[in-house]
Amino acid sequence: MGVFLFIVLCSVASDKGIMLEPDRPFLRVKIFERAELECCYKNAVNNGIWVKRLSSGQTEPVNLSEEVFQNYSKSNGKQCGFLTLTNAKLNDTGMYQCHFINTTVYTHGTYLQVFKPIEKTISLSESTKNKILTAEGVLLLLCVVIPSASLLFKSKKQNRLEMKKMKQEEENIYQGLNLEDCCTTYDQIERSQTQSQYQDVCTAMEEREEILEKP
Ligand SMILES: *[C@@H]1O[C@H](CO)[C@@H](O)[C@H](O)[C@H]1NC(C)=O
Ligand SMILES: *[C@@H]1O[C@H](CO)[C@@H](O)[C@H](O)[C@H]1NC(C)=O
Ligand SMILES: *[C@@H]1O[C@H](CO)[C@@H](O)[C@H](O)[C@H]1NC(C)=O
Ligand SMILES: *[C@@H]1O[C@H](CO)[C@@H](O)[C@H](O)[C@H]1NC(C)=O
Repeated sequence: MGVFLFIVLCSVASDKGIMLEPDRPFLRVKIFERAELECCYKNAVNNGIWVKRLSSGQTEPVNLSEEVFQNYSKSNGKQCGFLTLTNAKLNDTGMYQCHFINTTVYTHGTYLQVFKPIEKTISLSESTKNKILTAEGVLLLLCVVIPSASLLFKSKKQNRLEMKKMKQEEENIYQGLNLEDCCTTYDQIERSQTQSQYQDVCTAMEEREEILEKP
């Protein structure tokens, strides 16, 4: 019982001894670029080990490799742990914290976001692509339909105009044969042909009227 209490007290003491410094909360890096994470603290017996917090809430030690390594610095009692990802991958995105072994102490942590530049991230879903294609198709159809429809309308209008013109011309032809104008047209034809050698009925009648009107 006494030994157990001693261990508990010890662990609490060591837990309480660690003083955490503020962490950078957020870091954003481009894919394949270098990401440097830092956690600083005081009074730690052991250096913090970098862990990644999973979506389940549990943590997992960061797998170290030649591309991913950690190192430490110590100056004026302030200790810092660094995690360097020399070639950040999209799946490196996540919450990184330093964990102190044999304790429940974690640093505040830094959320690392690895992003693809915008020109490369235009990855539309299939349904969106389909919608865009459909819209394009509709636009194309409109581009074809509207001008041809207006052309058709124009030609119909022109047809109607021509029909009207033809009708009018026909009417004119009939008007030319109007009986009331018979004399004058006949006159004109006669005059141009015979140069007034002969008097036609109409002029004769007119002359007679003139004679009659004379006192
Ligand atoms: C470390 O590697 C193992 C096996 O490759 C993998 O399952 C695990 O997710 C990795 N851990 C992290 C934090 O990426
Ligand atoms: C830790 O590694 C980084 C990246 O290589 C370097 O810039 C930094 O100086 C190193 N720090 C220590 C204390 O070695
Ligand atoms: C992360 O993605 C890279 C490729 O981009 C892959 O090689 C690696 O296994 C992935 N790591 C994990 C833990 O899924
Ligand atoms: C963590 O505690 C275990 C016993 O519980 C001990 O054997 C081990 O050395 C401790 N590790 C460190 C790094 O203090």
